[in-house]
Amino acid sequence: MAKVKVAKLSEVLPGKMIGLDIQGKKLLLANVGGKLYAMDGLCTHMAGHLWEGGLIGMTVKCPRHGAEYDLATGKNTKKPWLPFAKAFDLKTYPVSMEGDDVLVDV
Ligand code: FES
Repeated sequence: MAKVKVAKLSEVLPGKMIGLDIQGKKLLLANVGGKLYAMDGLCTHMAGHLWEGGLIGMTVKCPRHGAEYDLATGKNTKKPWLPFAKAFDLKTYPVSMEGDDVLVDV
């Protein structure tokens, strides 16, 4: 794993998510109450862009078919609304700060 500078703190304000492209991998960075979280950014159902979805507390909701994921663990907590559709857990990544820079350990 290696720490990569991904954003300035001012780019991800509390209650917001942004999408990241790190070495060709799509991640999301979210700020919940001043604490930052990084997680895989593509939904495991049909690759919805999770950073374009909803952030409700610690839950990220996919904008396409409503699957939900826990930001702290990456666990899929709600399946898509489509019949028989499945979604799986995502990977999470450690986040740290260096001055105003946000670093993600990928
Ligand atoms: S792509 Fe995310 S729920 Fe379908």
